[in-house]
Amino acid sequence: MSDNTNESSVARGKAEPSAPPRRLDVDETDTAAVPAAMEYDYTNFYFGAGDDPFALLAPFDEWYRQVKPAGYYLYELPLHTAPGTRVDVEDTKTNEIRRGLVNFASYNYLGLSYRPEVKKAIHEAVDIYGGGSSGSPILSGTTDLHRRFNDEMAAFKGKEAVMVFPTGYSANVGTIAGLMRSGDLIVADQFAHASIVDGMILSKAKSRFFRHNRPDDLDRKLSGFSGKKLVIVEGVYSMDGDVPPLPELLEVCRKHGARLLIDEAHSAFVFGPTGKGLAEAQGVEDEVDIHIGTFSKSLGGQGGYVAGSQQLINYLRGFSRSRFFSCALSPAVVAGLRASLELVQKEPHLRTQLWDNVAHMQKLLAERGVPIGDSTSQVIPIMIRDDARIFMIGEELFREGVFINPVRYPAVGKHKSRFRMSISAAHTKHDLEEGANTIARVLGRYGICQS
Ligand SMILES: Cc1ncc(COP(=O)(O)O)c(C=O)c1O
Repeated sequence: MSDNTNESSVARGKAEPSAPPRRLDVDETDTAAVPAAMEYDYTNFYFGAGDDPFALLAPFDEWYRQVKPAGYYLYELPLHTAPGTRVDVEDTKTNEIRRGLVNFASYNYLGLSYRPEVKKAIHEAVDIYGGGSSGSPILSGTTDLHRRFNDEMAAFKGKEAVMVFPTGYSANVGTIAGLMRSGDLIVADQFAHASIVDGMILSKAKSRFFRHNRPDDLDRKLSGFSGKKLVIVEGVYSMDGDVPPLPELLEVCRKHGARLLIDEAHSAFVFGPTGKGLAEAQGVEDEVDIHIGTFSKSLGGQGGYVAGSQQLINYLRGFSRSRFFSCALSPAVVAGLRASLELVQKEPHLRTQLWDNVAHMQKLLAERGVPIGDSTSQVIPIMIRDDARIFMIGEELFREGVFINPVRYPAVGKHKSRFRMSISAAHTKHDLEEGANTIARVLGRYGICQS
């Protein structure tokens, strides 16, 4: 998330609906109107005059119908295959299936989602437990598979206890709002994920943001507040692929008596000697107070977790509403996660393979002059910066064999548009080389790199 987005959505509270939506009156058949429509984005349809809650629906619809074929259609493209290194994707603009695209869009960092061991475990669980768990984990939704997976995750993380949520999103929301109250203070990195921001809003605590990865600014933001304080960072920032300096941030937290929560959505299972995450990699696994993560990325499944002391988990069990009042994960999903977790532990070479691939891709892109930002992880941003042309470039990449997601405002700041590339241990050198060549060729046409 961009600096601007978080500062405005939380720190200032609700913006005044002063300006009416900048409504576009355009003729759909007038193609010259499309470039004008592309100047707009979702934020133009957030607040608007009028008393009808539906007032923004028609202008939004009108705008979206124009911008969809011009680039927004690149979101929610249906895959016809598993999220492997090659994917078949439906082109909803031409109704064709584009086959064998090199996939840099999925978070399947260890290639676990389609491993035979994982699929077998899922099949077996479906035979016994059926499709869904049909209940909240507190009531009827917990099976023996859930219990065992809970214990296995706690042992893997080396923590007293773990609690599983339906998603990583709900793990953040439920933990943050479960712990913090009105009158408390939460300070998060300015690039914190939307689920962290939503947890902050829901908690009603006072919210502040510190400059990205800057312990000195965190120090300033924590100063002068007496009361309960929680600091929130991520293990890998998903738009830039960089990581926080945890020892320095922890020092500031201790100085102010603040607790530190880390969201290891993109770093758990891939960073650290045993794959626990960034806190392990930086030697502070035991100092961080609250560990959050997701099973939807490196484990290739679904769900989220919070790990920590038994007392923390006992408390959150009573106060995390996003878990309490939501259906437990399907037992089949849990069975797949158990198999994935076993593979993470039995096959450490997957992590070695991932980091080799990351280094190789960084080199291939650098050699071709592709601007890649300062990533130190498996998430590599390809910086385009041109908010208008990113969709044209995205369309050409898609047509020419690369599946990768464009990211533009408001997900990142204005003029910070980029493609977010995810590298997997499963990519072959051939996949990486083909992908790098296509990217360099297309970007070369736009003068973004020499090729
Ligand atoms: C940093 C971060 N936290 C949380 C989440 C949410 O995880 P999930 O997809 O499991 O809801 C994401 C997902 O993109 C993320 O990037």
